Amino acid sequence: MPRVTHRDGPVAVTGASGYIGTHVVVALMKRGYDVRACLTDLGNPEKTDHLSALNGSYEGSVSLHQANLLDDGSYDAPFAECCAVLHVGTAMGYGGANNPRQVYDGAVNGTDNVLRSVKKAGSVKRFIYTSSFAAISHPAKSGYRFTEADWASDGRQENDPSWNLDNIDEGGEMGYAMAKVETERHAHRFAAEDGGFEAISVNPVVVLGPLLSAVHELVGSWQWFLGRTLTGKPNQRGWQHLWNIVDVRDVGEAQALMIESDVCQNGDRYQLSATDESGEIDVVQIQAHLEKMFPDYDIGGAPDGYAAVIEKHGAVFQAPIAHCDKARVDLGLETHPVTDKLRETAQTMIDLGLVTPKQKD
Ligand SMILES: NC(=O)c1ccc[n+]([C@@H]2O[C@H](COP(=O)([O-])OP(=O)(O)OC[C@H]3O[C@@H](n4cnc5c(N)ncnc54)[C@H](OP(=O)(O)O)[C@@H]3O)[C@@H](O)[C@H]2O)c1
Repeated sequence: MPRVTHRDGPVAVTGASGYIGTHVVVALMKRGYDVRACLTDLGNPEKTDHLSALNGSYEGSVSLHQANLLDDGSYDAPFAECCAVLHVGTAMGYGGANNPRQVYDGAVNGTDNVLRSVKKAGSVKRFIYTSSFAAISHPAKSGYRFTEADWASDGRQENDPSWNLDNIDEGGEMGYAMAKVETERHAHRFAAEDGGFEAISVNPVVVLGPLLSAVHELVGSWQWFLGRTLTGKPNQRGWQHLWNIVDVRDVGEAQALMIESDVCQNGDRYQLSATDESGEIDVVQIQAHLEKMFPDYDIGGAPDGYAAVIEKHGAVFQAPIAHCDKARVDLGLETHPVTDKLRETAQTMIDLGLVTPKQKD
């Protein structure tokens, strides 16, 4: 079994300065690893300072390395002698930063670039790929329970004209889902052919929890929409269905557990989602939780349109339903309660000065 420990050499993280990437770095440092944090711009203190500040707080250490997914061979140097690579980075569409074609091409070409550097290193035993629940979720009836056996491409390749690379520019988030399916499959195939390492995926749903830098606000992200409710504005994202919430600390911890696990094998996927129904809630339930935690603030709730949905259907669309049972059983992952995720997201956004809460009259 090619499991590793901190005695087998350094580990590298791509996208290390990002919201999830930083928590992956923390989880690895807690376990004593020397972490090579790969980021695109060593000259931007908003992306480097929170990482450098981690040194001295944990058993392991972190060093910073410049690399870009779009530059061939960029990861050859940081991956040399590494026993594991955790590939978190990708070109995201947040706030229109990249169009759907750039998101797709960036993910597919960037992951291939990273895999080629893994092969060149020759020392890597485990490759953990941060995919997404977007690679699992497909159209299904209200209440359908997703597992790792589901693929976003199920039934779509034949029946859904929008699942088509030619239409990707009009497809919006479809390009992201197609990219995550393609890159997961590519990583698993690549590792199987190489034989020297195993590629395992994580598929997070709605990630919330402490922000460790102001750059983790990410305009258009789940945390950004939650932050707006603290200023009294209605929650405009995903209000027609459930928010299936996983803690960003659990996403980091699961990945650290995966490089050390005897159970994981090439091709495995782990959906990182709510532990149970308590983490599958709609925007009005999120508002109720936040009102209890922050009684002095005027918290925003459902937007116009919500009441009509409830009147017609009795509840929002019951999706996505997905529990992280496999990660808990295989990896022994212990998850944070949903109240903790909501409180920490809100409190760190306030502490970082990203939002000014609306006080009650
Ligand atoms: N947040 C969620 O709810 C969620 C849910 C499911 C899956 N995911 C996945 O989780 C991963 C991390 O997302 P996040 O939410 O943490 O967003 P994020 O903070 O924006 O992280 C994305 C990272 O990708 C890096 N990146 C972008 N373009 C790059 C390039 N050309 N070369 C190298 N690195 C590049 C960025 O690094 P620099 O800062 O160095 O440019 C950034 O740190 C992504 O793969 C995403 O698909 C996120």
